[in-house]
Amino acid sequence: MKRIGLLGCGAIGRVHARNLAPHAELVFCSRRRARAEEFRQQFGGVGVCQRYEDLLAMEEVAGVVIATPPDVHTAQVVQALEAGKAVMVEKPMCASRAEVDEIGAALSARPEAVLMVAENYYYKPSLALMKEVIEWDGIGAVQRMVVKKLTQQSAEGWKSAYGALLEGGIHFIALMADLADTALAAAAPRGGADGVGESTTGVPVDTAEAEHEGAGAPAQRVSAEGRGTAEESPLKFDPGGGDAASHSGGAIPELRAPSEIAAEFPTLKRGGGREERHAKVQLRWNGLAGSLHYAWDRRSLLKGVFQHSVIEGDRGRILFESNGIYVHIKGEGRRGLTFPGVRDLMGYGEMTRDFIKCLEEKGRKPYSDFERAKRDLSVVFQAYEELPY
Ligand SMILES: NC(=O)c1ccc[n+]([C@@H]2O[C@H](COP(=O)([O-])OP(=O)(O)OC[C@H]3O[C@@H](n4cnc5c(N)ncnc54)[C@H](OP(=O)(O)O)[C@@H]3O)[C@@H](O)[C@H]2O)c1
Repeated sequence: MKRIGLLGCGAIGRVHARNLAPHAELVFCSRRRARAEEFRQQFGGVGVCQRYEDLLAMEEVAGVVIATPPDVHTAQVVQALEAGKAVMVEKPMCASRAEVDEIGAALSARPEAVLMVAENYYYKPSLALMKEVIEWDGIGAVQRMVVKKLTQQSAEGWKSAYGALLEGGIHFIALMADLADTALAAAAPRGGADGVGESTTGVPVDTAEAEHEGAGAPAQRVSAEGRGTAEESPLKFDPGGGDAASHSGGAIPELRAPSEIAAEFPTLKRGGGREERHAKVQLRWNGLAGSLHYAWDRRSLLKGVFQHSVIEGDRGRILFESNGIYVHIKGEGRRGLTFPGVRDLMGYGEMTRDFIKCLEEKGRKPYSDFERAKRDLSVVFQAYEELPY
């Protein structure tokens, strides 16, 4: 078992502790020793410490999980990379373009380093199912995504200084961008949408697929006629979860950034700046439009559960409960209602396993990596350029 240090014994630190405990020997690091000790007793662990420097100095600690507020992520990530530790840092990876560059520089000086961003939405079973349907051509060429999550959420303490889009909406930016990557890569060989977004790496799709370690064999996408039938559906998604619900069930498509981004912040008060609580973001990739409506200032029943989002293709559509509780597919080959997230609705389990595998398998890189975080953050930062005040 690898030894992992958990920095920050707060709300999400507790979630990480629970998920990491079966896979690792844990050392808890909190500025309050009693808090770290409380975590050690509750989740089991081999040690506690109060100073991050002490955690990084522990040779047996192979990796650290950083579960602190965003304003301290950059310094903590860079320190950990310099100490030779694998890192999983909470989302948002950081809070400015300058910080993205700083982390990027630290990472490129260490090509072997592991830097993962704890963007659990990349690992949701509902996303894996939807990507598989799209890859298999189950709804035809994807043309539009409309994603909505409107809730009443307080932003107290350090959260008050952050916008809802950066702190919460970024989950849905990641989800939409990942769906767009899959849709555009799948559309290109079918002669649908031209499959062109703005490539963030410049690596051709096929090469990127071939080079990805741990991606497994590319999923079969289409039949000889260019699309499948119900009988020959290669969908292997198992609603019960497990490996079949892996985030990388098929090939890993090229990363693309939207070519157009427009945003409005309908409830922002004069002088509000980045502390917005309500964002409408329009995204456009070639041949594919996306719209995200995300708010923390709208009354909602059951904390926004049972709101719906939709992915429209030219021969079908996927409607999903915005958290991924259920997914309804109307298309060829597979139809009907699925509850894909029974065991790991939010993807924390799969995300933790990816990090553990990165520690165990030399050369393996995480799916939720620096490049994806950089792409997702750049969408948020560009949207924020349209803040009126
Ligand atoms: N993926 C998700 O679903 C999800 C959900 C919630 C939050 N998050 C993200 O996780 C991060 C933390 O959020 P949270 O809700 O867990 O916050 P939180 O409950 O306030 O916990 C953060 C912890 O970080 C530690 N901390 C605070 N300032 C620090 C500093 N300057 N240096 C070192 N440690 C410091 C504190 O722990 P000690 O007092 O023990 O030192 C605090 O308990 C944020 O980036 C947030 O966006 C992600």
